[in-house]
Amino acid sequence: MRMRRKKHLDERLAACGDMIIFMDRENRDFSVKDTENMLDYKAIFGNDKPIVLEIGCGKGQFIRELAKREPQYNYLAVEKASNVIVDAAEKTLAEGIENIRYLRGGAEYLDCYVQPLSAERIYLNFSCPFPKKSYAAHRLTHRNFLQIYEKLLKDGGEIHQKTDNMQLFEFSIAEFSQSGWGLKNVSLDLHNSDFEGNIVTEYERRFSEQGMPIYRLEAMKPKRSI
Ligand SMILES: C[S@@+](CC[C@H](N)C(=O)[O-])C[C@H]1O[C@@H](n2cnc3c(N)ncnc32)[C@H](O)[C@@H]1O
Repeated sequence: MRMRRKKHLDERLAACGDMIIFMDRENRDFSVKDTENMLDYKAIFGNDKPIVLEIGCGKGQFIRELAKREPQYNYLAVEKASNVIVDAAEKTLAEGIENIRYLRGGAEYLDCYVQPLSAERIYLNFSCPFPKKSYAAHRLTHRNFLQIYEKLLKDGGEIHQKTDNMQLFEFSIAEFSQSGWGLKNVSLDLHNSDFEGNIVTEYERRFSEQGMPIYRLEAMKPKRSI
């Protein structure tokens, strides 16, 4: 289902200024994986703090809380839907949070923007499950996406995933394992585990209020011999 375009969306996006970086399909040739679009972190954030990514950030509740709790990082939050990223960016500006920027566009283009080997961690929170088999390649833990994440993550980097969807969780475990990623801290019921410091996302609140268990894992970037 296509989301209805919010009123005054373009004006609101424009008013967010540098808070939103547009990975625009129209203006770019994504078949050429050159360095033309690579983000200059120093110019964007004014410092060299290490980078953490969230992909599919929705309205940004998670990333805003994380940025406050862990100010030693800079955050890039990726979201393809303008309708929701605009809320995230407006709240970030209103709260005066300086260490987040939003990337509007699909995760499939990230390796044109995020510098190779620059990210410490990637968060995937309640990614769309795309239950139809024919849409499996859209799932954010499909092996094609894992290849992109591997390019962006530093050696020793990790992906932290949470979902309410058991099928997506099983699919993710299989994709990580078959792509050579190690897994640790796997939980089948996060809210009844001894995990400390969880930041509840918008979707997580909704699902857990319905009594659904939350699945969580940490995946470690493979060490490849050249
Ligand atoms: C179910 S929502 C979860 C939002 C938020 N992470 C949370 O936990 O509340 C998934 C979000 O991922 C975004 N998304 C899906 N596929 C994407 C892609 N390929 N690139 C960027 N964002 C994507 C959707 O637009 C949606 O906002």
